[in-house]
Amino acid sequence: MQHPPFIVGLGGTTRPGSTSEKALAAALEAAAAVGCTTQLLGASALPLEPYDPTRPERSSQAVALVDALRRADGVIIATPAYHGGISGLVKNAIDFTEDLRGDARVYFDGLAIGCIVSADGPQAMGSTLASLRAIVHALRGWPTPFAATLNSRERPFGGDGQPADAAAIEACAMVGRQVAEFARMKRMVK
Ligand SMILES: Cc1cc2nc3c(=O)[nH]c(=O)nc-3n(C[C@H](O)[C@H](O)[C@H](O)COP(=O)(O)O)c2cc1C
Repeated sequence: MQHPPFIVGLGGTTRPGSTSEKALAAALEAAAAVGCTTQLLGASALPLEPYDPTRPERSSQAVALVDALRRADGVIIATPAYHGGISGLVKNAIDFTEDLRGDARVYFDGLAIGCIVSADGPQAMGSTLASLRAIVHALRGWPTPFAATLNSRERPFGGDGQPADAAAIEACAMVGRQVAEFARMKRMVK
C-alpha cells in the first residue's frame, strides 16, 4: 500500500505570532485533514547560514530541510512580503533546493507548490505572490491555481479579543487541500 502523501510546509518569520507561520500551519492542517502526513519547517527550523554553492558542509537545519523536500509529495511555502518580494530567510531556504539538482527528481519537478503571502497591504501581496510563483516555476514546480494572500494588518488569526477571520483561514486551507489533491492526482497518472 502507498504511504499517504507527504506535504512539507516551509516559511514564516521569527516574529512571535508570525502571520505567515500561522497561515502555513492552517494550510498543513487542512492537508492532514484529507489524509496527508505533514511537516512544518517554520522560521526557527530554517537554515540561518546563507546558501553557498562552493561549500559542501551543511547545518543540521539545512540537512533536515533538504531531506524533507527530497521526500515531499507536495510543498507549501509561506512568506511575508519584505520590500515588495519574498523574505531573505525564505528565499535562502529555497536556494538549498540546489542540493536537489542532481536528484532523479530535480528541484520541485512535478510537485504541486502552494503559495501563501502575508503583507501589510495589497500591493506587496500581488508583487510577492508573483515573484514566489516565478521562483516555483524556475524550480519546475506547479504552483497551485489558488494561492492565499493575507493582510496581516487585519489580524486574520485574531487576538486581543478580535475573532479570527474564517475566510482567511479557509483560503489557507484551500491551498493545503489543492496541494494534497494534486499529489494524489500525480500518483494516479504515474
Ligand atoms: C523588513 C520588512 C519589510 C516589509 N516590507 C513590506 C512591504 O514592502 N509591503 C508590505 O505590505 N508589508 C511589508 N512588511 C510587512 C510584512 O510583510 C507583514 O507585516 C507580514 O505579515 C509579516 O509577516 P509575519 O507576520 O509572518 O511576521 C515588511 C515587514 C518587514 C519586517
